Amino acid sequence: MKSQRSRQIKLAAYVMAGPVSGHHGGWRYPSARTDILSLDYYQEIGRQLEAGLFDMLFIPDILAVPHKFRNSAASQLIHGALGALRLDPVVVLTAVATATKRLGLASTISTSYIEPFQLARSLATLDHLSAGRAAWNIVTSFQPAEAANFGQAGLPDKNQRYDRADEFLSVACKLWESWQQDAVVLDKTTPLFADPAKVRAISHKGEWFDVEGPLNVSRPPQGRPVFIQAGASDRGKDFAAKWAEVIFVTHSSITSAQAFYRDIKERVARHGRNPDDVHVLLGVVPVVGETLAIAQEKQALLDRLTSPEAGLSTLSYHLDIDLSEFPLDEVLPAIAPPGVQGHYKEVAELSQKQGLSLSEIGTRYAIGPLRDFNGTGAEVARTLKRWFDERACDGFMVQMPYLPGGIEDFTRLVVPELQTLGVFRSAYEGPTLRDQLGLSLPD
Ligand SMILES: Cc1cc2nc3c(=O)[nH]c(=O)nc-3n(C[C@H](O)[C@H](O)[C@H](O)COP(=O)(O)O)c2cc1C
Repeated sequence: MKSQRSRQIKLAAYVMAGPVSGHHGGWRYPSARTDILSLDYYQEIGRQLEAGLFDMLFIPDILAVPHKFRNSAASQLIHGALGALRLDPVVVLTAVATATKRLGLASTISTSYIEPFQLARSLATLDHLSAGRAAWNIVTSFQPAEAANFGQAGLPDKNQRYDRADEFLSVACKLWESWQQDAVVLDKTTPLFADPAKVRAISHKGEWFDVEGPLNVSRPPQGRPVFIQAGASDRGKDFAAKWAEVIFVTHSSITSAQAFYRDIKERVARHGRNPDDVHVLLGVVPVVGETLAIAQEKQALLDRLTSPEAGLSTLSYHLDIDLSEFPLDEVLPAIAPPGVQGHYKEVAELSQKQGLSLSEIGTRYAIGPLRDFNGTGAEVARTLKRWFDERACDGFMVQMPYLPGGIEDFTRLVVPELQTLGVFRSAYEGPTLRDQLGLSLPD
């Protein structure tokens, strides 16, 4: 077991390759850059995160422009909401790799619409080109709109999606292992480029995939990319406990975060893994200022730049239910939405326990999870440390309210305070993302 003193906060930055990352008003914030389709925008974000010693840049993804709310994509497009536009994360991260040296590069990729060979090849390439910094946020996709973009009549049920994901992961791991570490010899004289005895087929025949192998990319520097997951249903949590090395969650109270944390660490242990080898990162949207008044002014301005409709539009696609059918000024009744259970738990807590109306929930959702993380750098750092110390999480997925200024604020004002409190690194631990996270190479 690692000692309590050596436990350090892990920091990832949740950056959408699109208009909105944390706060739906963020893209309209006066200093927010609007060149979200340019190479320079993402490279600058990467450089700033690396200056702040962040563990990784995490890019979420979906494979459709959502149209659940009022059965139309209009609200997403008008408000520049979470699903309005998404660039391909792996391409963006490759660009970021060229501008950084240590920052981890995490791409969301669904197991439901591609084949393991494609994914294993693409992430092995990213891991090689970045010298060991790739991570994969494993999602199974939850929207019928995504299925419709891949010629499927409907969304397979959740158990089927997780069954496929389980086999997908096994096949991808076999492919990454199909080249032994020292298979590439590169002897010009003999000649011997790669030793055939150290590259083998995998001959996988399963319920979902038949893959002969080997992969046509040699063993990646990290053995395989770091695995990230965010499922919150029972099946999702078991999947995460089996595979994930980083788990991303959102919660609206410290007690629900602590309950999740205990539950997931127990599940990890039941899978025969060391609970310390799985980092639970909590999504927060900190608005930081030199003084509390400045932070509050920024927050007020951001809040004026969005609306309940923007939040409800995004929430409708997260829950896969059209919330325009419910009265705005009433509490949302208990429902069983087919979408993301983690997001519904958060909403149920706000409506059923705290009595917020649907319109208020829309506003809360538009401004991102957890507002308690606002203030001066010292105040934000103390709050982060409290949640970390009280075992609500092992670190944070920081959703910047606006970009790239939110990173600059966080790095300048919060990071030094965390360092003074002794809970955050003052230099990167090593060259790879596994080094930053204290994770060993897979066997
Ligand atoms: C905080 C959080 C972030 C997520 N990010 C994504 C994402 O970027 N893309 C995606 O397709 N699914 C995303 N999901 C969905 C989950 O990966 C998972 O597929 C979904 O929650 C369904 O599984 P569940 O019912 O076990 O929660 C996210 C879920 C949570 C809770």
